[in-house]
Amino acid sequence: MYDFTTVPNRRGTDAVKWSGPQSELPMWIADMDFVTAPEIVAAMQTKVATGIFGYEEPPAAFFQAISDWYAQEHHAHLPQAWQLLTTGVIAALNAVLRQFTHPGDQVVVTAPVYHMFYETVETAGRHVVSADLNYQRETQTYALDFAALKKALAAPTTTAMILCNPHNPIGRIWRRNELLQIAQLCQTNGVLLIADEIHGDLRLDQLDYTPAFSLPIALQQRLITLISPGKTFNLAALHTGVAIVANPQLRQQVAHALAAYNANEPNLLTIPASIAAYTHGHDWLLALRHQLQANYQMAQAAIAALPGVTATPLEATYLMWLDVSAITPDASDLCAFLEAQVGLRLSPGAQFRGNGRAFLRMNIACPPALLTEGLARLHRGCALYPTQRLS
Ligand SMILES: Cc1ncc(COP(=O)(O)O)c(C=O)c1O
Repeated sequence: MYDFTTVPNRRGTDAVKWSGPQSELPMWIADMDFVTAPEIVAAMQTKVATGIFGYEEPPAAFFQAISDWYAQEHHAHLPQAWQLLTTGVIAALNAVLRQFTHPGDQVVVTAPVYHMFYETVETAGRHVVSADLNYQRETQTYALDFAALKKALAAPTTTAMILCNPHNPIGRIWRRNELLQIAQLCQTNGVLLIADEIHGDLRLDQLDYTPAFSLPIALQQRLITLISPGKTFNLAALHTGVAIVANPQLRQQVAHALAAYNANEPNLLTIPASIAAYTHGHDWLLALRHQLQANYQMAQAAIAALPGVTATPLEATYLMWLDVSAITPDASDLCAFLEAQVGLRLSPGAQFRGNGRAFLRMNIACPPALLTEGLARLHRGCALYPTQRLS
């Protein structure tokens, strides 16, 4: 019913992903080479056809659509009143960090993690302290290091933690009991917990994702959950998200912070696109997840046959995390080699810090024809690398 097979031509469309050389196959930045749900496109077209684009504010229907979505997709209760419109997850993160922490404060993350966390914290003059995830090389799996977390959260200068759930780039969905422990530790230490859940809808298997805002209310005194239709529906350029805050006093402060940084206003397409996505997007999302699952299986099989490369099990997101430590201790060098020699652009794991130096991140959200080509280039490049780079 939906077309996830036709290869779109995104060159010349201002797409960041496709702005490289003609011969380059981009599998790095996190957007999808899929057309979004037709209902979303139609809602945007209807809006554009009005020809009048004055100031707007989100109606109750906007927040209700999101509440209904979380009830249906995740069995989670989300009151309309808990929601604040934002101009995207990172814009909200930036505003919140600057409002609730001070220059010189420590902000806790669990590396390797989404690189923009570092940039946002550090450009605000705060410090990142990481409770690095523990990596088991035999199983390619990661786990939270609670001893390290406890220590980092207890430090007197730590005032905030940013959690990524599901976790980009390692693809884990944090379990409810893990979230409970993190929320409890933050609460005990008076640390503001910011949960970035932009990938929450993109689970690949039957595992449930637990939204942080569905934890017991007693653990939500200083908890902010950030969500967005951007990843789910491939609407990054919409620059829209929602901050979810259960505590009314905290919510008021978050609202002020968003306003102070102009991170609280809808753009021309925010309202129609979001309402259409969250109201009519269920079937499209289901079909997308089937396609992503099929892509993941194809990529897993190809990588299993590729000496020196192993993949972390993907529970959610469309970003595969490839351990290339058997090929090179410096994955950035392999990444540059792949780009130069076989025209395959991946993300170097080093940008996510932690043990990322041994990894590459590969975006598999594309039509199977592109994925097949990308995997072939990966094979070719990894086979060439030891002879051409290391000789
Ligand atoms: C974990 C995570 N958070 C946030 C973003 C970006 O969100 P936004 O475009 O709403 O700022 C991304 C994009 O890749 C992401 O992976």
